[in-house]
Amino acid sequence: MPLESRSMTTHPCGAARRVLLPTSGDTNAWGARLGALLKAGDLVVLTGGLGAGKTTLTQGLAKGLQVRGPITSPTFVIARVHPSLVGGPDLVHVDAYRLAGLTELEDLDLDASLQEAVTVVEWGHGVAEQLSEDYLEVTLSGHETRAVVLVGHGGRWTDQDAGAQLDDLVQLP
Ligand SMILES: Nc1ncnc2c1ncn2[C@@H]1O[C@H](COP(=O)(O)OP(=O)(O)OP(=O)(O)O)[C@@H](O)[C@H]1O
Ligand SMILES: [Mg+2]
Repeated sequence: MPLESRSMTTHPCGAARRVLLPTSGDTNAWGARLGALLKAGDLVVLTGGLGAGKTTLTQGLAKGLQVRGPITSPTFVIARVHPSLVGGPDLVHVDAYRLAGLTELEDLDLDASLQEAVTVVEWGHGVAEQLSEDYLEVTLSGHETRAVVLVGHGGRWTDQDAGAQLDDLVQLP
């Protein structure tokens, strides 16, 4: 989030945590660890350039959440629902690359599913944050090894328990 909008918000924002993921397999496995922490109502905003690994990470999230795949890069479909295989929350995977902005994102009518599903938005930076004051911002960068920066926003991601979980997540096993 740009600093100017961060300073305007009154919602809490956690520390930036960083982890290095050398291979796509590492990104997938780390995504699975993050996915296992996610609960109904959670919003994850994935940021990073073309080919940064957002979909690879989402594939891991799907594994951790135990939802039905396959997770693909949607070419025409903007949002896909992946039902839970274990009675947990579904995964709603949104690719906002082709969305013109907040209005189109609102047109997707994610509000209904936002409460009971886990929503992951690729290219969501600048728009998806407006869906909820509680969201986890995950930024990927780098060639080969990807650096992931995690920033939690809102009460969901800044309380002590979530902080401890995120601390643990950036320690590689
Ligand atoms: N450390 C790594 N983490 C993630 N992906 C990696 C890594 N190293 C290499 N790759 C490769 O980079 C590519 C990442 O593609 P992916 O579709 O996940 O990116 P994306 O950010 O979703 O792209 P898009 O902007 O098109 O949505 C894959 O081919 C993957 O195998
Ligand atoms: Mg993608």
